[in-house]
Amino acid sequence: MFDDTNSKAMYDRACTSLAMGVATGFRRAVTPVPLYYERADGPYYYDVDGHELLDYTLAWGPLILGSNHPALNRAVTEQVARSYTLGAQHAGEFELAELMVEVLPGVDQVILSNTGSEAVQAALRIARAFTGRNRFVKFEGHYHGWFNNVLVSCHPDENEMGRPAASCGGQPGHEFEDTLVVPWNDLPALEKAFADHPDRIACVLAEPILANCGSCMPVDGFLEGIIELCQEHGALSIFDEVITGFRLALGGAREYFGLTPDLSTYAKALAGGFSMSAVGGRRELFDVLRDGRTIHAGTYNGNSIGVAAATATISTLREPGLYDRMHRHGHTIRETIEKAATDRGHRIVTSGAGTVFSVHWGVDAAPSNYAETLRADHETYRKFRAAMLERGIQLLPDARWYVGAVHGDAELEKTVAAVQESMKEI
Ligand SMILES: Cc1ncc(COP(=O)(O)O)c(C=O)c1O
Repeated sequence: MFDDTNSKAMYDRACTSLAMGVATGFRRAVTPVPLYYERADGPYYYDVDGHELLDYTLAWGPLILGSNHPALNRAVTEQVARSYTLGAQHAGEFELAELMVEVLPGVDQVILSNTGSEAVQAALRIARAFTGRNRFVKFEGHYHGWFNNVLVSCHPDENEMGRPAASCGGQPGHEFEDTLVVPWNDLPALEKAFADHPDRIACVLAEPILANCGSCMPVDGFLEGIIELCQEHGALSIFDEVITGFRLALGGAREYFGLTPDLSTYAKALAGGFSMSAVGGRRELFDVLRDGRTIHAGTYNGNSIGVAAATATISTLREPGLYDRMHRHGHTIRETIEKAATDRGHRIVTSGAGTVFSVHWGVDAAPSNYAETLRADHETYRKFRAAMLERGIQLLPDARWYVGAVHGDAELEKTVAAVQESMKEI
């Protein structure tokens, strides 16, 4: 049995003063108890019960370089001695912007903020100010942060599907009355939304791979279809690249799929574990900020530490061949899971890319939308995850895996063996 005695004690103590015991609602889903850690190094986390755990959560995405990375440490510690945050300008801001413009295809300019949720709100506001329209389309199952206008139909139950539904309490309907919801990979449904709301839709917001829900890939032509329909109807296309940015490729989904939406949002892997986000896109779209049609603000925008971390992270990720290596690592794990499961008579498929993917138990085909992800057997995955933890490998509770530059051959060997052994136990 995995010993979590000290984690349990800490969780109990945390629950008396920290409202949820954890700092983010989603972390409560970690079973049997949220673990507590002393430190992390490279791809390993060290918990308070003495375990060394090989990590494929990457802190839900950001730790693409792992922890305690020399280049990132150097950049941040050198910056700490110069300034934390200035509430004013410094060269680091435009140097980071120049770097992002260089590596992100079709991005002429960026704005900086601190979290993915903020970047999404900034992109929506730009789209609304630019088009003079209020409504926008999102897709069922897609997560774009925790604010009321986008936390809509993220995990709807069967009665809530097919219409915009609040994803938690405290979300008054009027705060998402301009949010239209369409099933992922359903171009006719998107066409219908445009037909039903002529000249009213400011933008279409999408995770280019539905990483937050089963890593559902876009079917052929779907992303192109979004961009074309937006162009046809005078709306903006927005890729929410908070997960896919700097993860699918250095240039994110734009590079990976060879597509240029109007705007993209970035966070997570952008700064390797430090708080930093951005919106990038065509220059003219940012006119709305320059000419005062709307504003973008934030006390910590462009803070020195986040900027230094982002610049060091992107510079490190430029190493030739790095993304191929990361994808290969992930694909080897996917193939191992599929083969080990099939050999033991399980039905299993994996979906997504090499650097972010999901495992679906008890189904024969990769899901193509939110509704199809509901068919998977989550209970068996829970057992598999527990068996992996017993073998010193930690995974996210939602069957999603993150692979980073920090995962090397030694980690792959360990993971392949653990997958094969864990499968025998299920
Ligand atoms: C696609 C996507 N957009 C936005 C967000 C919100 O980012 P943050 O948690 O940094 O506010 C997330 C977070 O997981 C995300 O996955």
